[in-house]
Amino acid sequence: MRRTIVEYPHPVLKQRAVELNDFGPSLHALLDDLFETMKAADGIGLAAPQVGESVRAFIVDVENTPGSVREFINPECIEMKGKIAFEEGCLSFPGLTETIPRAKNVTILYQDRHGKKQRFEAEGLLAVAIQHEYDHLDGVLFIERLPFWKRLWRKVSMNNR
Ligand code: CO
Repeated sequence: MRRTIVEYPHPVLKQRAVELNDFGPSLHALLDDLFETMKAADGIGLAAPQVGESVRAFIVDVENTPGSVREFINPECIEMKGKIAFEEGCLSFPGLTETIPRAKNVTILYQDRHGKKQRFEAEGLLAVAIQHEYDHLDGVLFIERLPFWKRLWRKVSMNNR
């Protein structure tokens, strides 16, 4: 089922999402809904809080081929290395893109939809997408990852309007 994507400044986007411990049908339905909703919106990632569910689950699909979607439940980034910057967008901020500095490589521990513990290493765009969605679970939005000077400049130019 396709869900409505929650947009900024909805308060659920600023909450810390809670751990999941039920890996039954309701979680599977949520993950399937996230997939359907993300595909319909042409996104490469979607986190549960973006459909109003404040739980620690997200999906990413940067390859966009059958079966290439990856599901992460109760994730924990244990290592981040290197630097990369991509022009990012977010389905909760329609029309906005910003170049955000991120780690180039990320190692993540998580559980799959059956509760099994997994480990995954990602690089490049996939690593960026994982970091972006992971942030959503802690209520951190991509615009908050902008370098300080850029945020300052944005504020100054808004005030002078
Ligand atoms: Co986002």
